[in-house]
Amino acid sequence: MLDRIEEIHDEGLAAVQAAGSTEELEELRVRLLGRKAELPNLLRGVGELPPEQRGQVGKRANEVRKALESRMAEARERLDTAELDSRLIADRVDITLPGDPLQPVGRLHLITQTLRELEDVFLGLGFTVMEGPEVETVQYNFDALNHEPTHPARGRTDTFYTSDDTVLRTHTSPMQVRAMQAHPPPLYVVIPGRVYRRDNDATHTPQFHQVEGLAVDEDITLADLKGTLLEFSRAIFGDERDVRLRGHFFPFTEPSVEVDVSCFNCNDGWMPDGSRCPLCKGEGWIEILGAGEVDPNVYSYVDDERYDPEKVQGFAWGMGIERIAFLKHGVADLRLFYENDLRFLEQFG
Ligand code: DAH
Repeated sequence: MLDRIEEIHDEGLAAVQAAGSTEELEELRVRLLGRKAELPNLLRGVGELPPEQRGQVGKRANEVRKALESRMAEARERLDTAELDSRLIADRVDITLPGDPLQPVGRLHLITQTLRELEDVFLGLGFTVMEGPEVETVQYNFDALNHEPTHPARGRTDTFYTSDDTVLRTHTSPMQVRAMQAHPPPLYVVIPGRVYRRDNDATHTPQFHQVEGLAVDEDITLADLKGTLLEFSRAIFGDERDVRLRGHFFPFTEPSVEVDVSCFNCNDGWMPDGSRCPLCKGEGWIEILGAGEVDPNVYSYVDDERYDPEKVQGFAWGMGIERIAFLKHGVADLRLFYENDLRFLEQFG
């Protein structure tokens, strides 16, 4: 009996030592220590042995069971670690590697790029940025800006009305009065945003973007307007640029001007090969915006004594963002800005 126990001991330990996987080890546990295995059976039968053998056999069988159990626990730990190691090697994913395939990086729409460029220029000149409502009252959009009751822009053929007294704003200029009502002078502000008109062809879209500018302070003259717009023109179109002011009419500025920038595509209207410049049409100048000195009547709509036209003066301008981007990048058709054809969009930025 004791000899058999020693055999079980030796064979058992050798088998445990040789086990190559946790599954094999589980099978061994059942074979050596399971309910039907020889050693546990032997232990259960100790009571039936002759009394003089009971102590010795019981003791040795128990030792062997413990030895097998502890050797199995050791083997289990060794195999678990080895299996984890090999799984870590086999399943290795290097999360520091770039994704595959490389994801294309998006870019800002040309309108957004141009808008940010414009904002940067004016922030650099000391202006702050404000925004305003796209659904605007007729009062702010037209009345406060001195538009006669018969002004053609008031017509339903030109403007989108959302009710009798509200419109989709036709320009960013209504923000002039709103900005003055919100902040006392001195005021230096630019207001970018969407505007809407009933137009649709290669050079007009029903929705487009403008940047309004307004400066109100003491001793402001048209020279300050010209200096500001010269800085802007050089920042956007190049250091060589010049600007000129041409007399014009807007209901809410007096005097009013249209501002031209010297053409950056040609020399005084002519191309090196002697042909007429296609961008400025031989003019040497390109119209970029409307501007003027704020009309005293506009201050009266602000209804704030700090905006007394006897004390403060101001200048304002409004420019189309699409127009700036279109001139700067030679875009052939304004509608390209809104079709979102990737072949167009990917050329910028
Ligand atoms: N609001 C005018 C337009 O959309 C542009 C404009 C002209 C804005 C003169 C101004 C200005 O601030 O002073 O055509």
